[in-house]
Amino acid sequence: MTIFDKIRRTLQELGVSDAQGVESLFAELRKAAEHERAELVAGGAPHQAQRDGLCKALRDRWLARKGGFLSQVDENWLKPAGKELKPVVGNQFNKLRRFTASLEFEKLVEALPLQQEATPQMELPLGSGAGRPVPRDLTLPGLRRPLGSIHPVTRMQREIEDIFLRLGFWIESGPEIESTYYNFDALNIPESHPSRDDWDTLYIDSKTVLRTHTSPVQIRSMEKYGAPLYIIIPGKCYRHDNPDSTHSPMFHQIEGLAIDEDITFADLKGTLDFFAKMLFGEKVRTRFQPSFFPFTEPSGEVAVSCFVCDGQGCRVCKESGWIELMGCGMVHPQVLRNGGIDPEKYSGWAFGLGVDRFAMVKYDINDIQLFFQGDVRFLEQF
Ligand code: FA5
Repeated sequence: MTIFDKIRRTLQELGVSDAQGVESLFAELRKAAEHERAELVAGGAPHQAQRDGLCKALRDRWLARKGGFLSQVDENWLKPAGKELKPVVGNQFNKLRRFTASLEFEKLVEALPLQQEATPQMELPLGSGAGRPVPRDLTLPGLRRPLGSIHPVTRMQREIEDIFLRLGFWIESGPEIESTYYNFDALNIPESHPSRDDWDTLYIDSKTVLRTHTSPVQIRSMEKYGAPLYIIIPGKCYRHDNPDSTHSPMFHQIEGLAIDEDITFADLKGTLDFFAKMLFGEKVRTRFQPSFFPFTEPSGEVAVSCFVCDGQGCRVCKESGWIELMGCGMVHPQVLRNGGIDPEKYSGWAFGLGVDRFAMVKYDINDIQLFFQGDVRFLEQF
């Protein structure tokens, strides 16, 4: 967890309960401030106009009243601190304020060198004697290209993929523009079934949709490879959902599918319990509750005990002690048949999870829209 993740949690959530812990957190934060300032100065600015912009961005990042790092520390560390820790936190907070003031983010404009545009070797400055190449000044700072980073949803997807790759699964994919046959019919969801309404599908024409889930790739892969089959299927899905803090019309799912001889519900439970422990830590427990999906029988919902509060109830698990993870179940015999697999010989399990929602839980992000707005101030924290 980076220091910027830490300032979005309370000291209690971070498990910091003594002065020493508080001091080392603040020391980490001061170091980060100093580091960012040094990076900016070392990088310089290509143009005069960008110089002001870069300095302002740095100042806002740390000092903005709303959402700046210092105000987050105030909200999440200082305000909720217990009686005993409050004086230490207050003291450290004042020290941090003095420290960031001493870095003079505002005055940085003068300190920030302007980078010289690279001069083509053969360019002839006025009066420089025709034909002679102009030597480059190697002491000038280089042109700096800021590095990008992996998008949090991609990062989450890769983390999940890695766990299943280690278990011997491989990765499959399928089309985002899908036929109603694969998206619904082959998955045991007949025309009249209410779940077609529930999913508020985006139709391209009466037989073609933007896939509402990654489950159609179950059938496509059964047809392509037969059994046995151990795959996960990451990809984009689309629903006619209004955007809010937990819904997006485009979102990401990962489907899991295991088909072999003698696959039982115990395999499903064991695999998903292992998966949850790998992702959220050894201590978490999983809970399976009955549910309904037309393409699995029996079907279940899996929840994991909250990895932040260990099931006691906190902000992350909305005081319930549990975090809903995914839908799952044993592949319905008719679905196996639709995929060309003999249900008398083979059985299987499947699950489907929302990657964006996983990323929200894991990285403590309270609004799914942040993933899709392309705001660099959000993205550069990953
Ligand atoms: C399904 O889509 C099933 N296909 C999952 C499944 C697969 C069950 C295999 C059994 C076997 P559901 O509609 O619950 O299930 O969606 C799965 C997850 O997608 C949800 O838990 C949620 O995390 C995510 N999700 C659904 N709609 C949205 C949305 N509009 N925005 C963000 N995430 C969403």
